[in-house]
Amino acid sequence: MALPEISRSMIKNSLVLGLFAVVTVGTVALTQLGTASRIETAQREAQVRALAQILPNGSYDNHLLDNVVQVFDPKLLGLKTPEDAYIALKDGKPSAIILKAVAPDGYSGAIHLLIGINANGTLAGVRALNHRETPGLGDRIDLSKSNWILGFNGKSLSNPDDSGWAVKKDHGVFDQFAGATITPRAVVKAVHKALQYFDAHQQQLFATERTPKQESN
Ligand SMILES: Cc1cc2nc3c(=O)[nH]c(=O)nc-3n(C[C@H](O)[C@H](O)[C@H](O)COP(=O)(O)O)c2cc1C
Repeated sequence: MALPEISRSMIKNSLVLGLFAVVTVGTVALTQLGTASRIETAQREAQVRALAQILPNGSYDNHLLDNVVQVFDPKLLGLKTPEDAYIALKDGKPSAIILKAVAPDGYSGAIHLLIGINANGTLAGVRALNHRETPGLGDRIDLSKSNWILGFNGKSLSNPDDSGWAVKKDHGVFDQFAGATITPRAVVKAVHKALQYFDAHQQQLFATERTPKQESN
């Protein structure tokens, strides 16, 4: 039986609308997928650049993001959740690690740090990642504002000794800033504790049989 003209027209319009909806949803989904993967790539590249700043050229020959171990230590690293640490390899052997640590007691709260430690226990470099320290005072921990953070290069648990791991105002070896002692004091303490963490866990962190994303406490 032939459908009345009006029903045929309704079916046709519904089909066209349905097809339009499918095409639109598909296009949006594909665009989102493409954008997400571009953002992920950009984030990965930014992360690699930040990590590469800390370790000298030629001191490793792996892709740092490919050798990751998860670490979690609220006391020595100030972490609230497990975080990735990056193992640098040279000729297949661990040459350094980059840890994330948090100094909880900055002037304006937490200061997030990247701390590179060579396999021999000396500091390869430290960088302040995120913080809310005051511009012109505490923000001199940023390499873009001053070279203060480079003062950690080459230091270790034994150089200086325990009492030296403080700002000069507290009889240590690290400079404070004019009118701003709280920020550098917090960073010095956090870096010292990260070295203690590394000293206690080096063997686990550098274990060659480790599977990616295994946790190390
Ligand atoms: C508005 C304002 C912002 C400040 N920001 C910082 C800061 O970011 N980092 C810091 O160490 N001190 C900052 N200070 C100074 C601290 O209050 C403190 O006087 C200084 O760190 C010296 O600390 P000390 O007495 O323990 O040596 C700020 C002070 C004021 C009034």
